[in-house]
Amino acid sequence: MIITIDGPAGAGKSTVARQLANRLGFAFLDTGAMYRAVAWACLQRDVDFSDVDAVADVARTIVIQFDGDEVLVDGQNVSGEIRTNDVTAASQYTAGNLEVREILVEQQRRIAGDSDVVTEGRDQGTVVFPAAEFKFFITASPESRARRRQEEFAARGQNIPLEQVLADQTDRDNRDAARKVGAMKPAADAVEVDTSQIDADAVVQRLLEIIGGTPD
Ligand code: DC
Repeated sequence: MIITIDGPAGAGKSTVARQLANRLGFAFLDTGAMYRAVAWACLQRDVDFSDVDAVADVARTIVIQFDGDEVLVDGQNVSGEIRTNDVTAASQYTAGNLEVREILVEQQRRIAGDSDVVTEGRDQGTVVFPAAEFKFFITASPESRARRRQEEFAARGQNIPLEQVLADQTDRDNRDAARKVGAMKPAADAVEVDTSQIDADAVVQRLLEIIGGTPD
């Protein structure tokens, strides 16, 4: 069974997707980590991000693997590296590269195979798994998302003003939503959940009820 969870950054999507996968005993696929992994590899190789073919070549040649929560590129654990601001900024170029998207979409389908998976991203319900059994679009108000992001940065020792987090987030949202392929938008048959006023546990509970699991 495939369950897709799409939505913007900072809506608590990752936490919800991971918890849901745990509760159901499903595998978890973090597709954002794949766009980040390609961006990280491009930075390592000094690839010019405006050279779309060179960026696509990197996507084609690296081997991205997941080992639990760890992300490996060509066998190297890059779980921390792919969460830096530089990689976050650079991932707009891998996410906006049509060939990279084709390559990663193909890999995502291969990784999911026939298994039970909760998969998280922007285009999982619309493009990658249009026939998924359950589709969710997790969102929240821009302010509450920016506040969450700010807390995540602070937990990593980075103190960034809320206005800056909000401005960067608006830029990313606009780019994600405007993309011609793989744009961030709810699938027509997705259930939308706004997490501005409810915590991750309550969201997971709600999703489990919809899926027909056994919430405790
Ligand atoms: O969810 P995230 O912040 O880790 O995603 C990293 C980047 O990849 C971000 O620019 C959105 C993009 N992305 C995408 O285009 N499609 C996906 N399925 C997942 C992420």
